[in-house]
Amino acid sequence: MKEDLENIRAAALRDLETAETESAIEEIRVRYLGRKGELTAVLRGMGKVSPEERPAMGALVNRIKQEVEGGIGTSLDRARAAERSRRVASERIDVTVPGRRPQLGRIHPLTQITNELVGVFVGLGFSVAEGPEVEDDYHNFEALNFPADHPARDMQDTLFVEGGRVMRTHTSPVQIRVMEERKPPLQVIATGATYRHDSDATHSPMFHQIEGFMVDQGITFADLKGVLTRAVRELFAADCPVRLRPSFFPFTEPSAELDIGCFACGAAGGACRMCKGTGWIEVLGSGMIDPNVFEAVGYDPEQVSGFAFGIGVERIAMLKYEIDDIRLFFGNDLRFLEQF
Ligand code: DAH
Repeated sequence: MKEDLENIRAAALRDLETAETESAIEEIRVRYLGRKGELTAVLRGMGKVSPEERPAMGALVNRIKQEVEGGIGTSLDRARAAERSRRVASERIDVTVPGRRPQLGRIHPLTQITNELVGVFVGLGFSVAEGPEVEDDYHNFEALNFPADHPARDMQDTLFVEGGRVMRTHTSPVQIRVMEERKPPLQVIATGATYRHDSDATHSPMFHQIEGFMVDQGITFADLKGVLTRAVRELFAADCPVRLRPSFFPFTEPSAELDIGCFACGAAGGACRMCKGTGWIEVLGSGMIDPNVFEAVGYDPEQVSGFAFGIGVERIAMLKYEIDDIRLFFGNDLRFLEQF
């Protein structure tokens, strides 16, 4: 029996010597010290040992048990230390590896121009409104004083959708929608997409406008000139020459287009491509709101007056960034977009 015990002890310690993982060590513990383990089996056999030998034998069994338990402790410490250094090695960070630069998004040039213009007008006390892109004929045309046979309603320009409605051809219908809901004084701008059946280097079937209008008692053409000159100079240059040139829009009377002095040729004209030799560049349409428009929304044109304007966002962006093809804005070519 003593020999059996010595063999068990030697085998257990040898096994523990080579066990590398916590689970292997646990298996060894179960094999020798578990309820059905080898050492436990010997202990159960103590009954057969003669009473004289029993104390010495009992002491021996206990000593071996303690030795095996100690061996398990040592093995566990070793296995855990090895596991820890394996993990540390695998998680090591090389702080000298060059970093990867994150890709930075940019704001689309049209959004930049829109934000800039909205900022200018909000600074002048305007608030921002929105309207639907699918409009009815009444808001897009009729209330804006377009006669029924006006060429702007022609199939060539307007994109018609089901139910007699149209894709709005300009942001001016937002004027009507706001005035139908609210009473003067009003100082409002509206931005958004507009649609026309037109496509070439300077026209896109979908484009963007910024609409603005101001209505109160006693608003004059001087207010129009003051507000628009200020806005345009903030956008282009503080000292840029500005002129108002007579024009026509159904919803304004009188109407004017606003030109700025050509910044490409210094308003010298000549063979300048930017201003086609005129020295002036057209920037927006504007005018005093027509009395018929006020009547359509239930305002008394004897009581209130106002001005309105419409700005083509693509046009401004093309001028400002000297872009000669409008399609670049919608091509999603990163080589283009990353320049802004
Ligand atoms: N709605 C016009 C267009 O799309 C632009 C415009 C001109 C708007 C004069 C206005 C305005 O409010 O007063 O061509």
